[in-house]
Amino acid sequence: MSTFQAPIGTHDVLAPQSALWEGLIATFAQFSFQYGFTLAMTPMFEEIGVFNRGIGEQSDVATKEMYVFQDRGERTYALRPEGTASVVRAFIQHQPTSPYKAWYVTPAFRYERPQAGRYRQHHQLGVEAIGTDDPAMDVEVITLAWRFYQALGLTQVRLLINSMGHDECRGRYVDVLHGYLEEHREQLCDEHQKTWSQNPLRVLDCKRESCVAVVNDGPLLPDFLCADCAAHFESVRRGLGALGIDSTLEPRLVRGFDYYTRTTFEFIADSLGSAQNAIGGGGRYDGLSEQLGGKPASGIGFGSGIERLLLARAAEGVTSNLINRTIDIFVVDTTGQESATVVVDELRRHGYAVERSFDSRSMKSQMKLADRSGAAVALLIGPQEAASGEITIRDLRGDDFERAQRRVAREDLILTLRQHLNK
Ligand code: HAM
Repeated sequence: MSTFQAPIGTHDVLAPQSALWEGLIATFAQFSFQYGFTLAMTPMFEEIGVFNRGIGEQSDVATKEMYVFQDRGERTYALRPEGTASVVRAFIQHQPTSPYKAWYVTPAFRYERPQAGRYRQHHQLGVEAIGTDDPAMDVEVITLAWRFYQALGLTQVRLLINSMGHDECRGRYVDVLHGYLEEHREQLCDEHQKTWSQNPLRVLDCKRESCVAVVNDGPLLPDFLCADCAAHFESVRRGLGALGIDSTLEPRLVRGFDYYTRTTFEFIADSLGSAQNAIGGGGRYDGLSEQLGGKPASGIGFGSGIERLLLARAAEGVTSNLINRTIDIFVVDTTGQESATVVVDELRRHGYAVERSFDSRSMKSQMKLADRSGAAVALLIGPQEAASGEITIRDLRGDDFERAQRRVAREDLILTLRQHLNK
């Protein structure tokens, strides 16, 4: 009978790789806490309108990439392709005190052509700050991302930044861009020759050479910003500058979703050197709450792909562990009684990470497992130890000759381990 595989474009994450995931998520949780963000868990699927209205019906993600399904009650849902729209939907529904600052870790689903760094299920770490348009919040959100990348050991990361203005100034720009693209429509890529006029901004996001060439000579968004939006953007850049965070103005950065207004940004990992080198991105979405039926509430956030962060770390040769995932003690028991069960429970209650073997294996086979486990010490319980109420502690560090071994009374075990393991 044939066996099953994980679906195309998805991956199982198992040890030892999964320890890196744990470390990454734990580090992000700690940063989020330090910056005043609280965890938000929202459903994996939403009514399709949350995404269609949120990210824009014309966006690539909505038209080509969403996993849409009908449930047994014939309601139409979509698996979340990104995290922002759901958090804003939850903000509208529950009306928490604002600014509401949330962080999340979530799978995201996009039916894309899988390739290195691009998957049908990827995972994002992200934050959203809803209820303020203060440029200091833009700086805070971008800084969180930047310091997080630094903590991961990444050094080859560039911050690209732009402002898309608000409805009015962007509207003026889109009109001019529309006129420009109309003149050059025959030079656009096949897809955009057909779709350019529905949403001209999407052409700026196109990576195909023909569109890039047209866009390169076209009008630039920052030239159309109104005085308020220009001042807002200036303030964000000044704030970043004051913190020593370099940002490069990228006037063609519009990003893929329709909800963006004002500040938009992307973090590029130069070590990845491929088309999939954006390790994070985000921006303001000051109109999104209203678009989803809520009261006006400005917001800003970013999302970062866990897979790409790990690819960037590997590409830069960063090997540091973000979290210690080696166990302390391996218990070897050849008596076949409850000794191992009882000792393991006691050790764990004292805070040690402990493993043991199962299935009544031989002493030799249990010692092999102990060696492989990475534990610092093995505890041996054989017939002699059982008879005398003792336990043998064997050092597993160093080679065979250096491995000290001693027997201690059962009641002295924890104290001896505290001294021996220094924890
Ligand atoms: P996004 O740029 O579409 O933005 O995704 C954020 C990050 O997720 C990307 O920079 C990339 O690292 C990762 N990513 C995206 N698609 C894939 C994929 N198919 N495979 C692997 N990694 C991927 C958003 O999703 C917005 N919600 C970000 C945001 C938050 N804006 C405001 N707040």
